[in-house]
Amino acid sequence: MSPNANQEVLVWMHRIQEDVETTLREVLPTASVVPKRLHDAMRYSVLEGGKRIRPLLVYAAGEVTEGPPKRLRIAAAAVELIHCYSLVHDDLPCMDNDVLRRGKPTCHVEYDVPTAMLVGDSLQSLAFQLVSEYILAEDRETQLTMIKLLAQASGSRGMAGGQAIDLASTGKALSLPELELMHIHKTGALIRASVLLGVYCGQPLEEEELEHLDHYAKCTGLAFQVVDDILDTEADTATLGKTAGKDANNEKPTYVSIMGATAAKGFADELYEDAISALSGFDSRADRLRQLAAYIVKRQY
Ligand code: IPE
Ligand code: IPE
Ligand code: MG
Ligand code: MG
Ligand code: MG
Repeated sequence: MSPNANQEVLVWMHRIQEDVETTLREVLPTASVVPKRLHDAMRYSVLEGGKRIRPLLVYAAGEVTEGPPKRLRIAAAAVELIHCYSLVHDDLPCMDNDVLRRGKPTCHVEYDVPTAMLVGDSLQSLAFQLVSEYILAEDRETQLTMIKLLAQASGSRGMAGGQAIDLASTGKALSLPELELMHIHKTGALIRASVLLGVYCGQPLEEEELEHLDHYAKCTGLAFQVVDDILDTEADTATLGKTAGKDANNEKPTYVSIMGATAAKGFADELYEDAISALSGFDSRADRLRQLAAYIVKRQY
């Protein structure tokens, strides 16, 4: 990579983040629409915050199949809405009981618990409204595949299921396969869906190419949560925008608590290498995916 490559990636990321922000502003009901407090809380929980990693992955994967931006922006917004819903519920007192998210008071602290529950419910519904309202693929069958993919990644066989395993594991020392299963569900599933949704927005791929991209997505998704576990122990609250050290306080089994920080970092690096190898058959159109895998593993927050 040239010395200016890093700067170029950051410029690209910034452009996509702005595009995502604009789309989210458009699709979220304004706070002047009844019920005003709920809509206000939805906008509070989604806008002006977060790294927008999942939308970035949608756009990056869309570059591989030449997905049109007008499709990618909707798929990206849908996946970010599901993610924001998962964060609002994850922070609730009955789950992680967190007071800080994206540098602001969490939704239930700023509003109240019932509102936060309804924010999550409504963001999830809005996501599915988007993926069924706009044309996102070359044909209807592909679009139905996309809707099903997002549903599976969000539900009990995906994110919500992972959260259930997380809650049931509190205070327990999980085996590595158990921990991996939890992480693949709670975080990996939605990251995998982000990549595949981006892919499906564009031209069809050969089955084998799709499998390679899926493997990239799985490795990147697991790496993402391994790094989240590491940052929880090593970064500070101001940098993270969420309370540092919460996993140990909540007795959560994590890659750091189970294998130690050094081995966890080594594992994240291995997953990165694996993700990059999966892209070996792709040309420069997969460069954004390569760059994002690097960003996910090397990020500071
Ligand atoms: C945090 O996700 C929750 C996990 C799934 C680990 P992110 O680190 O992507 O959070 P934001 O969107 O940037 O705030
Ligand atoms: C959250 O995992 C995963 C989901 C929100 C689905 P964490 O509980 O580790 O996320 P943070 O650290 O609070 O962001
Ligand atoms: Mg949690
Ligand atoms: Mg949490
Ligand atoms: Mg965490």
